[in-house]
Formats: sequence, C-alpha cells, structure tokens
Amino acid sequence: MEHNALMELYVDELKDLYDAENRLVKALPKVAKAATSEKLRSAVEEHLEQTRGHVDRLKEIFENLGEKASGKKCAGMTGILKEGEELMDEDYEGEVMDAALISAAQRVEHYEIAAYGTVRTWAELLGENEEKETDEKLTQLAEEINVQAKEEGGEEGEEGEEEAPRGKARGARA
Ligand SMILES: [Fe+2]
Repeated sequence: MEHNALMELYVDELKDLYDAENRLVKALPKVAKAATSEKLRSAVEEHLEQTRGHVDRLKEIFENLGEKASGKKCAGMTGILKEGEELMDEDYEGEVMDAALISAAQRVEHYEIAAYGTVRTWAELLGENEEKETDEKLTQLAEEINVQAKEEGGEEGEEGEEEAPRGKARGARA
C-alpha cells in the first residue's frame, strides 16, 4: 500500500472519529436526562466527561500530525444516535427505558471500538512518520472505550449493588 494514500485515509478516519465524538458530546446530556437509574445516569455523565477528553486527545493527535482538527460528517454515529433518539421518543418507562438507553450506548461504543482499533493499526503501519505518542494516545483511547462499553453493559440489573466490579460486568467480551 502506498504510504501517502494510507496517510490520507488515516487522517480522513480521524476526522470521522472527531465528528463522531463531538456528536456524542452533544447527545449524551439527553441520554443522562432520560435515565431512571441513578447509577446509569452517573455512568452516562462520566462517559460524557470521558468523551470530552477524547475530543481533546484527538485535537492533540491532529496537532502532532500538523493537521487542522476538523470533522468530517460521521454517517455511522449520526445513524446510531438517531436510533437512540427514536428509542427515547418511545414510551418505555423506568428500567425498560434504561435497557433501551444501554442498548443504544453499546452500539455507540462498539462502533467506536471498531474505528479506533482500525486507526490504531494504521498508525502503527505508518510508524516511521508518526510520533510514537500518537500511537500511544490511540491505544489509550481504544482501551478506555473498551472499558466504557463493559461498564455500561454492566449497569442493567445490577441495581442495589455498590460499585459494580468490572469483572462482573455483562457484555464484557468487547
Ligand atoms: Fe464514522
């Protein structure tokens, strides 16, 4: 594969992710509001904080690459968030709505896991031109998102437990 062409693809996908993360920052407060379980709400709020951190880290990655931090409309995240909104418009209540919110959150996380996994691999392939730091940042992002997916999947049905231990989280096969 030609190095420059792969570089272009890599930057393009980073822009897609940057757009995806920014859309998520906008959407998550609505999700937190729709949650019934206190634990789910605080998990979503924590996820919002982490997502803001991901936006900042992507900005640093663009900076290291000498690229302007800009987004390119992520059709995938747009669609997943639209589905989530449709779910929130249904009249599910209480725990059932929470289950619906978790299912939407899982779709978001898995989309991001796939995307970060791929760009991380490309960053490695492009290795000689990259700052090693970038690969580390992407690896960290990918890992953090895996943990988020686990934690959100683990909320449902664990009401009443103090701090669900990570190891017990459901949907933990990400
Ligand atoms: Fe996308």
